[in-house]
Amino acid sequence: MTLQISVIGTNYLGATHAAGMAEFGHDVIGVDIDPDRVKTLNSGQSHIFEVGLEPLLAKHTATGRLRFTTDYAEIADWADVHFLALGTPSGPGGAADLSQLHSAIDSLAPLLTKPCLVVGKSTVPVGTALALEARLREKAPIGDGVEVAWNPEFLREAYAVEDTLRPDRLVFGTHSKEALATLEEIYEIPITDRTPVVRCDIATAELIKVAANSFLATKISFINAMAQMCQAAGGDVTLLADAIGFDKRIGREFLNAGLGFGGGCLPKDIAALAVRADELGVGVLSEFIHAVEAINDGQRLELAELAIDQAGGDVTGKRIAVLGAAFKPGTDDTRNSPALTVADHLHARGADVRIYDPQARLAPREGFTQVASVEQALLGAEVVLHLTEWPEFRQLNPEKLGELVKSKIIIDGRLKLHAPSWRNAGWKLVQIGRAS
Ligand code: UGA
Repeated sequence: MTLQISVIGTNYLGATHAAGMAEFGHDVIGVDIDPDRVKTLNSGQSHIFEVGLEPLLAKHTATGRLRFTTDYAEIADWADVHFLALGTPSGPGGAADLSQLHSAIDSLAPLLTKPCLVVGKSTVPVGTALALEARLREKAPIGDGVEVAWNPEFLREAYAVEDTLRPDRLVFGTHSKEALATLEEIYEIPITDRTPVVRCDIATAELIKVAANSFLATKISFINAMAQMCQAAGGDVTLLADAIGFDKRIGREFLNAGLGFGGGCLPKDIAALAVRADELGVGVLSEFIHAVEAINDGQRLELAELAIDQAGGDVTGKRIAVLGAAFKPGTDDTRNSPALTVADHLHARGADVRIYDPQARLAPREGFTQVASVEQALLGAEVVLHLTEWPEFRQLNPEKLGELVKSKIIIDGRLKLHAPSWRNAGWKLVQIGRAS
């Protein structure tokens, strides 16, 4: 059955979710306070680089099944279901900043005169959903006619459309049968395609999301700690990851050692979980998370120090080439990017840093120069750093590039370059945790 659905917040999560809901056959209105973004989305274009999103926006804005507005009055009594897809960035001390959610609720609630379901998709500290429900009921004319459920999102940037249309699981956190039935109606297509569904209480739904991201972060920090061990003992962390990954209980994914995790989700979500764990007196969890964070921060620093060592102990005035600025390949997102932390550190130590990234456009900033090609980045470089593993960097020609640099030294921060090709071309290639 076609439902009338609003999606509040239209960044990575909201824009993709709105387009996905239209693809599932629903009538959808996306809401955002940013009029420029609304204009772009209404013209069927995307304000972010995300594979497959623009065609979906173009398709459904053309059919009229999807549109965007800045006006809450257009959705308040129109929608059966309101999805909350707002950002929950890091606030003071790493706690989640819920101000975007609160202001959306405060805009929507006074206009609600027909019963509706409000479904949270944002990543929030456990306990948030019930607090939002109380806030809504207090401010909405319909009062208890508003209900809140939680349906966390697990999409990955660069695969956002794929993950939305073909999720690997659905989580429905609700305390009522009616809300559950509505969620099952909304997701009828993936459910028919046998997507596993976990039906649970709201607190469990909130926790599932942060547990998933924390576990992924834990895998990465574990393998990075093993990389340190391999480095100390002369072992090879990539072969180690391959070997343990064959055990189905462990799995090979998220065991790629290197510069560690960044982006707009993992770092902030685990920090917020640690804060919430402390609030609830679960010190054992916050300590665990702090260990994961410490390993991750250490990787960035260690890589920057390695570059300084390779440059002879001092980078003042020396040119360093950085390949990659996005927090991972396939996206133009540079939030909490490990590559930029390393670049910042080297700049602070006096280096002349040149960065190239195939997609990410850096706002003009003090500290380093963004260039338009790998060749421009490498010209006159004394050390080259490979920090985001874009596939095109694996196709580079070490012979030709060797003619551009001052010293043929490359640090592969993502352990993805084909070491023999670089070494055969006379380069010194350094990878933490892999024998050279
Ligand atoms: C992450 C989760 O993977 C999604 O499931 C979740 O929905 C999303 O956060 C979210 O909360 O919205 P994303 O931020 O797109 O998705 O990034 P990931 O693909 O998880 O990568 C995170 C970081 O880990 C990247 O910097 C990546 O380079 C790094 N990474 C990943 C490693 O260092 N090693 C690995 O083996 C894998």
